[in-house]
Amino acid sequence: MQGAYLEKQKVLVTGAAGFIGSHLCRTLLDGGAEVHGISRKAQLDSEGGMHWWQGDLANASIARDLIAAIQPDIIFHLASYVAGSRDLRLVWPTFESNLMSTVNLLTMASEIGCRRIVLTGSLEEAESNGGETVPSSPYAAAKGASSSYARMFHALYRTPVVTARLFMVYGPGQQDTNKLIPYVTLSLLGKQPPKLSSGLRQVDWIYVQDVVGGLIAAAQAPNIEGQTIDLGSGTLVSIQTIVQQLADRIDSRVELLWGALPERQMEQTRVANIKKTYDSTGWKPQTSLTTGLECTVDWYREQGGSLHKPN
Ligand SMILES: NC(=O)c1ccc[n+]([C@@H]2O[C@H](COP(=O)([O-])OP(=O)(O)OC[C@H]3O[C@@H](n4cnc5c(N)ncnc54)[C@H](OP(=O)(O)O)[C@@H]3O)[C@@H](O)[C@H]2O)c1
Repeated sequence: MQGAYLEKQKVLVTGAAGFIGSHLCRTLLDGGAEVHGISRKAQLDSEGGMHWWQGDLANASIARDLIAAIQPDIIFHLASYVAGSRDLRLVWPTFESNLMSTVNLLTMASEIGCRRIVLTGSLEEAESNGGETVPSSPYAAAKGASSSYARMFHALYRTPVVTARLFMVYGPGQQDTNKLIPYVTLSLLGKQPPKLSSGLRQVDWIYVQDVVGGLIAAAQAPNIEGQTIDLGSGTLVSIQTIVQQLADRIDSRVELLWGALPERQMEQTRVANIKKTYDSTGWKPQTSLTTGLECTVDWYREQGGSLHKPN
């Protein structure tokens, strides 16, 4: 992406050191915004003019002090404990890092005021088909509850919040090597057979730089407060197809261990409604799956790709 995005505006990015956050911060800095990032770990100021803050947003007084000190025009809330596992041990960290951090930021943004707060929802949130919904994981429950709070804050307090519902994001710089594309890419580059489930799940994959464009559109488009917009490709592609494309590109001689991992419980299939997103924001994805996978593989190859933590 090139151009002026939120030029000269004060922008707070939570989760700024993460996969999507770091791409977003680079684009905002290139576009001339004053970018503040928060991480729980100490980060070095100055890289490209970035202003770093340290703290845990699950702590209400830290969230309050942060918003009061920065007084941001725009908040992008990406901080999150991102994990799809159904493990009981994930209930508390996802509740704290996802739901409490979101409620804290929504409260402070309502009290202190800002022009727009963009939350990041997820394709994993349970889809309502009229009846009651059951989230498929602690992460999905926390994300669904966060979106519900967003709607309440907008309805009751006129908080200028927009939820960008992200589909399966991939691209250079994804640090979590348990995620499918980094795991399979690094396995194949290291000539290790990747362990896979059946691969039958159909997923809507979206390239990270397209997501960055969508988040910026969510911050800028007029009259969409209170709404949820989908950021996906609008197309379903199976895990089998993705893995096969990676194998064809990297090394088709490495065995693919289909069925070596169990299926996850309650896996859902959801596709982004990108027509609705385009109508309300003018955003649509630009990167084909072929180009996106090529850029991703090239990046891991340049890093000297190897898998430190096989599944
Ligand atoms: N990647 C995807 O496919 C996908 C799909 C749908 C939705 N999303 C959403 O998009 C957002 C960004 O995802 P990502 O893939 O970039 O995740 P990520 O790489 O794991 O980054 C998330 C960041 O959140 C920070 N964080 C977590 N808890 C925090 C807390 N309590 N206070 C302050 N910072 C905290 C972590 O930074 P520190 O460790 O530095 O504090 C981490 O770098 C998340 O909200 C995620 O749910 C992602």
